[in-house]
Amino acid sequence: MELEEQKSLKSFNTFGIDVTASFFVEVSSEDELLQVLKENQEKEKFILSGGSNMLLTQNIDALIIYINIKGIDEKTTDTNTVFVTANAGENWHEFVSYCIEKNYGGLENLSLIPGYVGSSPIQNIGAYGVEIKDTFVKCTVIDLKTGNKKTFTKDECNFGYRNSVFKHEFKNKYVITSVTFELTTTNHKINTSYGAIENALKDLKISTPTLRDISNAVISIRKSKLPDPSIIGNSGSFFKNPIISASHFIELQKKYPKIPYYTINEQQTKIPAGWLIEQADFKGKRYGDAGVHDKQALVLVNHGNASGKEILEVASMIQLKVKNIFDIKLETEVNIF
Ligand code: EPU
Repeated sequence: MELEEQKSLKSFNTFGIDVTASFFVEVSSEDELLQVLKENQEKEKFILSGGSNMLLTQNIDALIIYINIKGIDEKTTDTNTVFVTANAGENWHEFVSYCIEKNYGGLENLSLIPGYVGSSPIQNIGAYGVEIKDTFVKCTVIDLKTGNKKTFTKDECNFGYRNSVFKHEFKNKYVITSVTFELTTTNHKINTSYGAIENALKDLKISTPTLRDISNAVISIRKSKLPDPSIIGNSGSFFKNPIISASHFIELQKKYPKIPYYTINEQQTKIPAGWLIEQADFKGKRYGDAGVHDKQALVLVNHGNASGKEILEVASMIQLKVKNIFDIKLETEVNIF
């Protein structure tokens, strides 16, 4: 383990923002992590995982602990399921591919999501009709101050839409070191509820899809809409899809009969932020190297050398205009530092 100083973070965040960390250390086991915590008690800590859901707007004056703890463990059950535990530093998509390879069902709709396993519970990652809370069993964490180990069950995580206790009461308190999922080994619950998956399967004339078919459909949909962070910097959806009152929605629907929506319950309706941003005429727009993706307006992009502040300025322009036109406040999904 080497403690580096003034380390560039450009290759550690999928937006590709070039800021530095005053201190940086990579840990590849729980023991190394405990040692770093013990030896650096006085330093402020910043836990870095895949860097796929963050926008860095300034140099980080802290000790960055980059979690590179690998390993996957499995325990079969008496029924048709298996408990699979992945350590925090496993790449999410490689982990999903491993499960598909072994014919373990439950995560296939979450193919190709950037990032590492360790941060997946923080925002309850989700896509194409599935969230990790659907298969999540528990995660183990280490307390940054005391070094004590603890387990969080699904109930204790209090998962919501892109939300969990790790974003609120336990923000910056713990490092997640592993996550356990319960996956099916037979009788998979294939989820094709998301229209785009159904259409992709229809095009391929597949009527009884396998886990791999679902994964392939998701991969092709994602590739058609979302920019590959290794080619063009981004952090996926920049904003959450806003939830508005049913009465506000009825007002908007009168004015915009084609407005897409998902009914949550009698009082609440969720609106795709991508649609709002496209209506506000930002889709594909570019301001220097900062911009809005041309195929999915919910994704802000770094065309090369944009700073985090420049991306944040685009985000603020979007928030202001969407508020003015629709009276809707867009909240960021990406964590801003
Ligand atoms: N839309 C537009 N213009 C756009 C983009 C979207 O009009 O430029 C409208 C379309 O009507 C479309 C609807 O918005 O039918 C929904 O778009 P899409 O299916 O692309 O999904 P989304 O709501 O924009 C959410 C997640 C994504 C996830 C997809 C698929 C959030 C914040 N985002 O996006 O998650 O992949 O659904 O399930 O909930 C991420 O979190 O980083 C992410 C990519």
